[in-house]
Amino acid sequence: MDSVCGLDFGTSNTISTIFYEGENIMVPLEEHSKSLPSSVFFPFDSLHTPLYGSIATSTYTNNGYGRYMKSFKRILGTPFFELGTSLRPGANILFHDIIVNYLKFVKNKTEEFTQKETDYVVVGKPVRLSENEKGGASGISQLESILKHVGYKNYSFLEEPIAAAYYHQNKLAKNSLAIVADLGGGTCDFTIVGVDDTKKDFKILATSGISLGGTDIDSQFALNVFFSELGYKTVDKLKGLTLSDTPYRYAADWNKITTSLYTFKTEMLVKKMVGKAKFKEKVEQLQSLIQNKDAHGLLGEIENSKIALSGTDSLAFNSKYIANKDLLVSKNELEEAIESTVSKILNNALECCQLANVNSEDINYLILTGGTSKMPMIKQLFKETFHKASFIEKNSMNSVALGLLHKAKKDWL
Ligand SMILES: Nc1ncnc2c1ncn2[C@@H]1O[C@H](COP(=O)(O)OP(=O)(O)OP(=O)(O)O)[C@@H](O)[C@H]1O
Ligand SMILES: [Mg+2]
Repeated sequence: MDSVCGLDFGTSNTISTIFYEGENIMVPLEEHSKSLPSSVFFPFDSLHTPLYGSIATSTYTNNGYGRYMKSFKRILGTPFFELGTSLRPGANILFHDIIVNYLKFVKNKTEEFTQKETDYVVVGKPVRLSENEKGGASGISQLESILKHVGYKNYSFLEEPIAAAYYHQNKLAKNSLAIVADLGGGTCDFTIVGVDDTKKDFKILATSGISLGGTDIDSQFALNVFFSELGYKTVDKLKGLTLSDTPYRYAADWNKITTSLYTFKTEMLVKKMVGKAKFKEKVEQLQSLIQNKDAHGLLGEIENSKIALSGTDSLAFNSKYIANKDLLVSKNELEEAIESTVSKILNNALECCQLANVNSEDINYLILTGGTSKMPMIKQLFKETFHKASFIEKNSMNSVALGLLHKAKKDWL
């Protein structure tokens, strides 16, 4: 039998699914996990043999000597995709090649498992990869080029929330309406599906998406709650004017750390800021974050505390990178910091209802998937908005990948 596969290449995590010996299986991409964090570490002493996933992150945070990157799917459709980045002076790399090699790693792991070459793969794509249409279209053609270079002979795309809808299809009753919300690291995507009285298939009534997700929540949390420790929104000592926010915005963004923070221009800007800052010792912490290439490490700690606050009301933030060891952060602070992002996400879900010409009250099922849907504030807001709907969140981290496999089997076998 031909070998078919689902590939959920995510901003934060990647999952590969296969139909193997009569079963739908998630390939163990790491020793203890089926999903592979979308991160890479280039050790300076062997730039040609990068590490991927959790081991990339742990090597970097344990002071590995090299360059670390994460969430590179977000570079698709942006001008940085063509520009590439410098691993160290004289060693540049294109983001195209970083993603090709990352996905080759995933393909190889999958084929080692099946001992067969992949005949057909269905790859997830966000409904809206980028806020501007041109960026979205170029991002998809860049992804196509990447898939060809990875070596996939036959592939097709399916919108991520539609894949999740396929996975949950058989839980939906006849003559019902469902909204599927896939709230991920880089994008939040929605679909409204309708099941008719034959229950054979469902109709996609509308899709929508917004290029905002968990990585933007990390940025908001960093800027609004933590970065005052590094001098964000503090003033200069002569005129009392607020210092530039540019390096802080770069340090709060997983990709801009790579593309814009670790540059000569930003280093010079921060050096000047240190010279004139009223709270010099704070801005110096930003400076050493850049000099020691520690910004991903701090943002990683902030992301981890965001995740922990889904299960607790407050926690002590004892950072490796911030001098103040007595920081306490609360769920309330997090929720206030991200309020505007969350309301944009909910509005996009309501737009999807409008596109489908249905009222939120008419929805019978609310299906939530993706890591960001685990935030209590978001879950609550969606439940209140679709208050008449039955709530489904089973397998919320894997349903997109399993739905992509469902489609692959339907198309090919
Ligand atoms: N318990 C949690 N509470 C809050 N956020 C969480 C939790 N678990 C994971 N996340 C966040 O969810 C995001 C990852 O979700 P997911 O794996 O669904 O994204 P993805 O599929 O890689 O991204 P995308 O589909 O947007 O490309 C990250 O931003 C992560 O910080
Ligand atoms: Mg996803």
